[in-house]
Amino acid sequence: MPKKLKQAYGNWVEGERFWDREKDIELMIKKLDEGAHLLLVAQRRMGKTSLMREVKRQLASRYTCLFIDLQKASSAQDAIVEISLALKPYKNLWEKTRELFVNVLSLIVGSIEEVNIAEVGIKLRAGLTSGNWSEKGDALFSILAESERPVLLFIDEVPLMVNRMLKGEDYRINFERKAGVDMFMSWLRKNSLAHQGKIGIILSGSIGLEPILRQAGLSASINNFLPFDLKPWDIATAVECLQALAAEYGVIFKKDAETEMAKRLGCCIPHHVQMFFTHVHDHCIRRGRMEFFPDDVNGIYENEMLGVRGHAELTHYEERLKLVLGPEAFPLALEMLSETAVTGCLTRHSLAAFQKHYAFSDISVQSAQEEILRVLEHDGYIKAGKDGFVFDSHLLQDWWNRRYGYFHVPVSERRI
Ligand SMILES: Nc1ncnc2c1ncn2[C@@H]1O[C@H](COP(=O)(O)OP(=O)(O)O)[C@@H](O)[C@H]1O
Ligand SMILES: [Mg+2]
Repeated sequence: MPKKLKQAYGNWVEGERFWDREKDIELMIKKLDEGAHLLLVAQRRMGKTSLMREVKRQLASRYTCLFIDLQKASSAQDAIVEISLALKPYKNLWEKTRELFVNVLSLIVGSIEEVNIAEVGIKLRAGLTSGNWSEKGDALFSILAESERPVLLFIDEVPLMVNRMLKGEDYRINFERKAGVDMFMSWLRKNSLAHQGKIGIILSGSIGLEPILRQAGLSASINNFLPFDLKPWDIATAVECLQALAAEYGVIFKKDAETEMAKRLGCCIPHHVQMFFTHVHDHCIRRGRMEFFPDDVNGIYENEMLGVRGHAELTHYEERLKLVLGPEAFPLALEMLSETAVTGCLTRHSLAAFQKHYAFSDISVQSAQEEILRVLEHDGYIKAGKDGFVFDSHLLQDWWNRRYGYFHVPVSERRI
């Protein structure tokens, strides 16, 4: 019987919807068992959150696994609340956490069990100040360290929170904000070292943490976290995934159409493989014939993958990029990507040519470009090629071309 796989619903997958990544899981578990703290790094949609969820699921019998999403957090206090709330399902741990807040929250002690999780969060948040969060946070870690089983903290979207703390709404990095990030990262570092072996921490996020900490001059604060790279699927894995999806939904691939699909993507980011299958499946259903031939691959790619939904995906990329780079550097980053998409390669020559067209308030254009390249490379948009930088994923390049290519004049052809 061929393997079957159900399509992904929601943002991430685990259990029966999770495909492959066996070696990654094995390696991650081995490192966690050895007591390492990890920084899970990969470009958007590679499956970082899914991998964390799946490892959490597989380790649930040996560890107390807590998943904490800091997507909406914008301060250290918010992070402490999120960690506290993650303990609510564990009676013993929650009991102690409650006691921790008793002094500051004498008013609500009686009612804290009855109210829903959002309300509990609001109440806990009200008890935390810039003066007491680190002490409460330390106490939380001590509670976790004393728990019967070792604890794993899977903390997702740390970079989004740190980015917000560092830049605020107005995108200005100032001394105070840097100091705030420094305090939080130092606190995390201190506790990760103090409880090594008892508490393991896995950090991840949809933008790179390292480039953001670098902007704050704080790169060293995560040097006790071991980088863990998550790569795209290879063609064989993507093909097997497509076959398993096809087996579940009755699509019949003919003449290796699935291999053609994986090759068309070039870089098999799991989310893109899933998207491609969804389009093929919907296409087969609509026309009432489930056989799918290689000849049809290109049409689906051009019309569906590069269509409206592709544009929506691209918008997410752009939003994230703007968050990291800020409004001043963002337009130059867009142009650098358009240049790469249109000409196929961002050369040293074109980088130099761009410098004549831009000026920045605090830094040289070259420094801005270096920063942009670091972010683009780190977050998986481009990679260094023989003659310059090239797109890593055909799909992303094609999306970019569709969106910006038409009006982009290669910088070497411009007259000032
Ligand atoms: N191991 C996997 N098996 C099947 N689909 C996956 C897997 N990993 C990722 N995906 C697909 O990619 C999408 C994005 O995954 P997610 O874990 O949110 O990525 P990230 O956190 O890196 O942005 C999922 O909704 C799913 O469609
Ligand atoms: Mg994620």
